Amino acid sequence: MIKLENVSKIYGQGSGAVHALKPVDLHVPKGSITGVIGTSGAGKSTLIRCVNLLERPSTGRVLVDEQDLTALSESGLRKARHDIGMIFQHFNLLSSRTVFANVALPLELMGITKRDIRDRVLPLLELTGLSDKAASYPAELSGGQKQRVAIARALASRPKVLLCDEATSALDPQTTASILTLLRDINTQLGLTILLITHEMEVVKTICDQVALIANGELVETAEVGDFFTAPRTQLGRTFLNDYLELEPPRNLLERLLEAPGERTHPIVRLAFRGDTASAPIISRLSREFDIEVSILEARIEDIQGRTLGLMIAELMGPTAITQDVLTFLNKLDLHVEVLGHVQRND
Ligand SMILES: Nc1ncnc2c1ncn2[C@@H]1O[C@H](COP(=O)(O)OP(=O)(O)OP(=O)(O)O)[C@@H](O)[C@H]1O
Ligand SMILES: [Mg+2]
Repeated sequence: MIKLENVSKIYGQGSGAVHALKPVDLHVPKGSITGVIGTSGAGKSTLIRCVNLLERPSTGRVLVDEQDLTALSESGLRKARHDIGMIFQHFNLLSSRTVFANVALPLELMGITKRDIRDRVLPLLELTGLSDKAASYPAELSGGQKQRVAIARALASRPKVLLCDEATSALDPQTTASILTLLRDINTQLGLTILLITHEMEVVKTICDQVALIANGELVETAEVGDFFTAPRTQLGRTFLNDYLELEPPRNLLERLLEAPGERTHPIVRLAFRGDTASAPIISRLSREFDIEVSILEARIEDIQGRTLGLMIAELMGPTAITQDVLTFLNKLDLHVEVLGHVQRND
């Protein structure tokens, strides 16, 4: 539904030029929710603003529903933007207009009659849970309600795509959850394709199907969310995930962790189990079949959109030759294994 081909953005010129976005290729499938995640200044806003050409890319093409936006005239672009709604971190509502009038604004600009505007706005207020707030002014609303108004307004022109720039970053966790639920409902009910940017893994975990990781203006990794949370492919992906999961070996162990195995060391492994592969049977199988002990240092279960993800950091306590066999065995199973390092044996 959205295709970025070789899209880059340089702000300014000469010695003051900022390469905010290096050439990026990104595909957002129709009906999906795709999250772009990255740290501050990574180029997330630049990327999303290039999609509706709020920023004109320095190179490349932007296709939305197979239409090349970069090739359109100003009037063609205005029309194409009806297919692309956008919401922002700070809502950007007009304080002098009521909730109803804020949602109606894009329709007024499109020249739609008053009666038709009413027929479109009221169901949107209903959808976003604002029916009783139609006559209220933004100043009378909570942050979550303001974002609902912004969502209703973004949907007024019946877009195919919704762009969200840190839409929940100004909200508390509970309100964030309710806005994310609303976005998920809109995605399923209206079949709307959503591209959102965030710096929070929690947002990605809660509603995204696909995730793209961006750093220093470069797209580092793109993955299905389930895959990303089980086995990120890049070092940066692993850093993001580990920071989020806070699944690090205990500090006293970290201090003893050696990079290479030695004569008398045990491997420390991080295991990620997906789906029904329960952790307990694997551990008992290792003990039984290889006659080693497995010391579990950290473990927990995460729910990733209804799918179970088990995480564990463990020490494989056996002679080197056997622990090597264990690692080979684990690598053949449907789980993700990472050797974090080695510790000196105490025995
Ligand atoms: N209009 C502009 N003119 C010059 N430089 C800009 C402009 N907008 C952004 N930049 C620079 O481009 C880089 C990427 O900025 P961008 O706003 O896209 O990052 P971001 O990932 O959205 O960050 P944040 O999480 O803080 O919102 C930054 O170095 C920023 O300073
Ligand atoms: Mg930003």
